Amino acid sequence: MAFELPPLPYDYEALQPYMSAETLHYHHDKHHKAYVDNLNKLLPGSGFEGKSLEDIVKASFGKNAGVFNNAAQDFNHIQFWPWMKKGGGGKKVPGSVLALIDRDLGGFDKFRNDFIEAGKTQFGSGWCWLALKNGKLEITKTPNGENPLVQGGWPLLGCDVWEHSYYIDYRNERPKYLEAWFDHLINWGHVEEMFALAPK
Ligand code: FE2
Repeated sequence: MAFELPPLPYDYEALQPYMSAETLHYHHDKHHKAYVDNLNKLLPGSGFEGKSLEDIVKASFGKNAGVFNNAAQDFNHIQFWPWMKKGGGGKKVPGSVLALIDRDLGGFDKFRNDFIEAGKTQFGSGWCWLALKNGKLEITKTPNGENPLVQGGWPLLGCDVWEHSYYIDYRNERPKYLEAWFDHLINWGHVEEMFALAPK
């Protein structure tokens, strides 16, 4: 069965002024859609058809660049949309996750700084992550479509730092995008949902 582009979980105007409707139209309707369409074209005969998206990401890594890049970017963007919401961001971290941030990452302020720094220093296209690995939180950054799934971890939060996610609204100023994203857009409820879904 073909993979499908999920609709945005909010209106295109919902994230303004921090992310414009124009960015969401390009990013969701064109970029994410292209990943889904390309994956559906590449899967037949690849040996990866019939698996879940998560299994395709893990199985194709290092073996089939075309399938991996599009499957991983589909997986990443499926999570990226609900990782944002109107009126999100800031310190509204659920207690279950905040306790781990305190234990593993030196507290909220250091976590915020290190997460944004990871996004700023990812050279070229990629993502920065809050991931769970071997029962501990870690902050990572990855190039292109790579994600914590292929590093033996599980993503709790990820920010897209490809230029397509910020160039319309912030031009070349990726740090401003990261700070606005963290302080005004993060949907901590979805972080808690991803924590609950983490492989035990
Ligand atoms: Fe993207």
